Amino acid sequence: MEKTGIVQWKSPSNIAIVKYWGKKAGQIPMNASLSFTLSQCITDTKISYSAGNGKVEFFYEGQPKPEFFPKVRMMLDNLNLDFLKDFDLIIESSNNFPHSAGIASSASAMSALALCITDMQRNVRSLDKDFLSLASLRARIGSGSACRSVFGGAALWGKLESVAESTDEMALPWKSNLHSAFSDVQDWIFIVSAGTKNVSSSAGHKEMNSHYFRTGRITQAQQNIIQLIHALKEGDWNSFIEIAEMEALSLHALMMSGNPGYLLLEPESIRLIHAIRQLRKNTGWPVCFTIDAGPNIHVLFPKSIEDKMTDWCFTELPNYSAETRIIKDHVGNGPVKVQ
Ligand code: DP6
Repeated sequence: MEKTGIVQWKSPSNIAIVKYWGKKAGQIPMNASLSFTLSQCITDTKISYSAGNGKVEFFYEGQPKPEFFPKVRMMLDNLNLDFLKDFDLIIESSNNFPHSAGIASSASAMSALALCITDMQRNVRSLDKDFLSLASLRARIGSGSACRSVFGGAALWGKLESVAESTDEMALPWKSNLHSAFSDVQDWIFIVSAGTKNVSSSAGHKEMNSHYFRTGRITQAQQNIIQLIHALKEGDWNSFIEIAEMEALSLHALMMSGNPGYLLLEPESIRLIHAIRQLRKNTGWPVCFTIDAGPNIHVLFPKSIEDKMTDWCFTELPNYSAETRIIKDHVGNGPVKVQ
């Protein structure tokens, strides 16, 4: 068994269509969620380990980053893995997109970390479960949405009666359940603001514990995910669009109607929502929006209309031609081991 070594993984973000919003103790989701795994928004994490007694150092983009460390420490503590007590770790991490801007940076960060830890375990001890399932379970402990990033294509997380193998503990790969109409979904992220959010997702999840619409939300998410599974299987873009937009607007409606209520959308987010709906109305193209816990607008469509979308964007939204204002992402194959 190795005493020193290096493990490194690049892991992507993901975009939920049916959203995880609200959780119980132990990072157990209040409802099941389903997401596409992206490919351009990546966290690259490397762990150098050597025999020791559990010391951990953390560097973000080459610098110590005290404000990120507590989340890393908390994940490692909550995993409570015996083998980690016999090693010292140097964790080096970097993102290729703005963190804390509602582009699910915790999903890529925590999945990359979970993949590294699980890979390390494979080197220094042994694994008692399939590698990716174990990594997904550990990613969930770091951040709920991260458990879905472990699988390429799409992932389902949370127990559903109709999906026998589904569980609240980890995500399931969902790529093989996608109709070819959903095999090359594009996600253009219009960056309305890349600043740090003023209310964290964790605070938002907490508000769901006593939210006036809690029961209604559980029912809605349950119905939406069953319909989404069907739409993805049948290649039904019309139903997909209806569910995606309903989920995005419901997520933000839950934030606004919480106690205290808050608003993450900006006037520019609303302008983009109207522009997408107008485009769909005028052209009949299969294009829609979704939104995470932030002001940025994700625009989803199949690759077949990409050229037309480029022309439309150039004419109607020239402000977004600069790469700093738009990330042209798409569904990807999932994490990659670097060494
Ligand atoms: C709105 O996974 O960031 O993006 O488990 O507290 O880390 P924690 O929350 P997080 O919540 C993400 C919520 C969401 C919807 C989703 O990705 O499903």
